[in-house]
Amino acid sequence: MQDQLNQLREEALSALIGVSSLELLDEVRRQYLGKKGALTALLRGMGQVPAEERPALGKLANETREAVEAALESRKDALSATAVAAGLAAEAIDVTMPGKAQLPGRGHPLVQTERRICEIFAGMGFEVVEGPEVETEWYNFVALNIPEAHPARDDHESFYVTDDVLLRTETSAVQIRTMEKREPPIRVIAPGRVYRRDAVDRTHSHTFHQVEGLLVDEGVRFGDLKGVLTIFAQRMFGDDVVSRFRPHYFPFTEPSAEVDIQCATCRGSGCAVCGQSGWLEVLGAGMVHPQVLANVGYDTSRFNGFAFGMGIERLAMLKYGIDDIRLFYENDMRFLDQF
Ligand code: DAH
Repeated sequence: MQDQLNQLREEALSALIGVSSLELLDEVRRQYLGKKGALTALLRGMGQVPAEERPALGKLANETREAVEAALESRKDALSATAVAAGLAAEAIDVTMPGKAQLPGRGHPLVQTERRICEIFAGMGFEVVEGPEVETEWYNFVALNIPEAHPARDDHESFYVTDDVLLRTETSAVQIRTMEKREPPIRVIAPGRVYRRDAVDRTHSHTFHQVEGLLVDEGVRFGDLKGVLTIFAQRMFGDDVVSRFRPHYFPFTEPSAEVDIQCATCRGSGCAVCGQSGWLEVLGAGMVHPQVLANVGYDTSRFNGFAFGMGIERLAMLKYGIDDIRLFYENDMRFLDQF
């Protein structure tokens, strides 16, 4: 029995040397030390051993178990250390490898321009509102003081859906929708898409974008409008921009004006970019016509206001020196990549 115990120890220890994984290690443990393992089987023969030899044999059996257990433990430590090392090696990053190019997305130049416009007016307390692109004649024309026979309708060749429903020709329609829903004070801007039956060329598109502005309160003056739009021009085109207000006509404002900025190319002396005038038109504006306020039921003896409207394409073209509006819609990456 003594020999058998020693042999068992030799076998177990040499089996452990070849073990290459934690799973195999467990198998060896079961094979030698498990309930159905070799050591248990040997000890079952203890009954036949003469009583005086038993203590010595028992001691040897314990030593054998301890020796095999110790060997199992140290093999286990070694195997786990190797596994950790292998894991770390697999995760290692080779910092000398060439990187993957990251192509971050960004807004279309028109989106960037719209965001910038909204941001500037938000900074002056204006809230962004929106309205539908399919409008009734009431919102698009009549309530804005453009009745059926009004010559201003000729400027807006429109796409009609039914007799009195059309694709909106201007974001000014949102003025009416906003005033119908709210009481003054009102300070909103309304960005959005508009449609006109225009032939497409360098400066025209049947579909384009505008931002409308509206402020209604008590005691609003033309000077307030001038201040807001002068600050807008400076934030949009730079602090040194020179702007001017030129008398104009719009049915929904009285008095009305167009705002120009001095041509940055010739600094006002006249060149091809500004058609020799020295100025570039940026937007339309004016004091809201009392009839428009009356159309939404406002008390015109108490409230007045100003409004303005600008084309997003036009502003982007001025800001970036783009001379063909069609570039915005072609989605040529060589163009878009520049913004
Ligand atoms: N609706 C005008 C257009 O489409 C732009 C405009 C001009 C809007 C003057 C206004 C304004 O609110 O006061 O050409």
